[in-house]
Amino acid sequence: MNWVANPYRPGAGHMPLHVAGREPEQAEFRRLLDQEVILSNVVLTGPCGVGKTVLLERFRELAVDAGWRWVGTDLSEATSLSEERIATRLITDLALATGRFVVSSRQALTKIGFSATSQRREQTLDYDLLMRVYGEAPGLPSDKLKQVLMFAAEVVGPRGIVFAYDEAQNLADHAAAKEFPLGLLLDVFKSIQRREVRFMLVLSGLPMLFPRLVDSRTYAERMFRVLQLERLDEASSREAIVRPVEVMRSPVCFDDAAVAAIVEASRGYPYFIQFICHEAFAMMVQEPDGRFVVPARDIVRKLDHDFFAARWSRATERQRELLLLAARVEREEVEEFTTAELVEASRTGGGKPFSSSGVAQMLAALTEAGLVYQSRSGAYSFAVPLFGGFLRRQGGLAAPSPPQAAGKRSKRAGR
Ligand SMILES: Nc1ncnc2c1ncn2[C@@H]1O[C@H](COP(=O)(O)OP(=O)(O)O)[C@@H](O)[C@H]1O
Ligand SMILES: [Mg+2]
Repeated sequence: MNWVANPYRPGAGHMPLHVAGREPEQAEFRRLLDQEVILSNVVLTGPCGVGKTVLLERFRELAVDAGWRWVGTDLSEATSLSEERIATRLITDLALATGRFVVSSRQALTKIGFSATSQRREQTLDYDLLMRVYGEAPGLPSDKLKQVLMFAAEVVGPRGIVFAYDEAQNLADHAAAKEFPLGLLLDVFKSIQRREVRFMLVLSGLPMLFPRLVDSRTYAERMFRVLQLERLDEASSREAIVRPVEVMRSPVCFDDAAVAAIVEASRGYPYFIQFICHEAFAMMVQEPDGRFVVPARDIVRKLDHDFFAARWSRATERQRELLLLAARVEREEVEEFTTAELVEASRTGGGKPFSSSGVAQMLAALTEAGLVYQSRSGAYSFAVPLFGGFLRRQGGLAAPSPPQAAGKRSKRAGR
């Protein structure tokens, strides 16, 4: 068969050819865009690879369709943002939306203590002007930023602006350094929204994001509508597998058995669907007689290597022991484990037992490292979907694989 383009897109933030499911979240977001006065902002959260960045992109389209402007950034690199820097960050983003607005009234400028600029050219609401307002406003960074946003709102008029930040779990207050960028962000938006400015915050990130917001300001609980992304249900998983081939009018497609095998192996996690489909599709187009069985086990082994191994390698020896215990006690249907279960399991595990406080401390470190998170019920889960299965395979705890599957990957894949 001639070369056939692969219609699947495994990779962080890669737009799939078909966004499956997520209708309730989109409907909810549309409702929030209808708010005249902003009472609810948005937290979009869920484990890695569940589709937050992709959905955020859909939200952008919905917002723009509804007449909003949309600004924002990916905060992956934002671990040590100071208050000044988050303020500058917001102004930089804002300037992209407002840079072409002309500050028409002399009043607007004089109100914030500026003498009207010379008549030679129109003054636009660009970065330089916004930073001047920031620089000359009195008070703390939060007071200054409020001034800037209020001023911008006055110039922009009633059309709202969404401030969207992806990977926002990276924003954290640093009490030791007396820097509270998260607190600043929340204070500023709460305050301007009370004055009916239509600037909305949309924060997207890993499951520790919302607890972090509430830690910073308890009122965050009431300020956000939390949209928690879960894996896709069976119908949507099938759609995610089947639709891209149709969209691309591909000459080959998965048969029912293959689709079922992929639903099963991916457990409905979008990243795993894309990954498995991408691999399986590449193999399928090489099959001369068109008969194809998804080598799920081999693909999952590749996934272990490509996706999980890096995370595993970051853990210390003792952390690995605990992770392996967690994988053993994890109740698969809910994908959770508790401190008590870990302590208990460590007593019978044969290794050096963990104390309750030891487990608690280590779970805190693993949470910080982004490997586990505390779910609402007080239990813990792996922050990376299907990590438990990977660990069970690592620790030889997985259901034994049929003997012919071992060590033959390259041969089978190349056939
Ligand atoms: N609704 C969806 N339907 C199909 N594929 C999706 C969907 N959402 C995400 N994906 C795919 O899953 C992968 C991970 O998506 P991404 O948005 O980067 O996840 P996250 O931001 O939660 O880590 C990407 O390859 C993307 O194409
Ligand atoms: Mg993402």
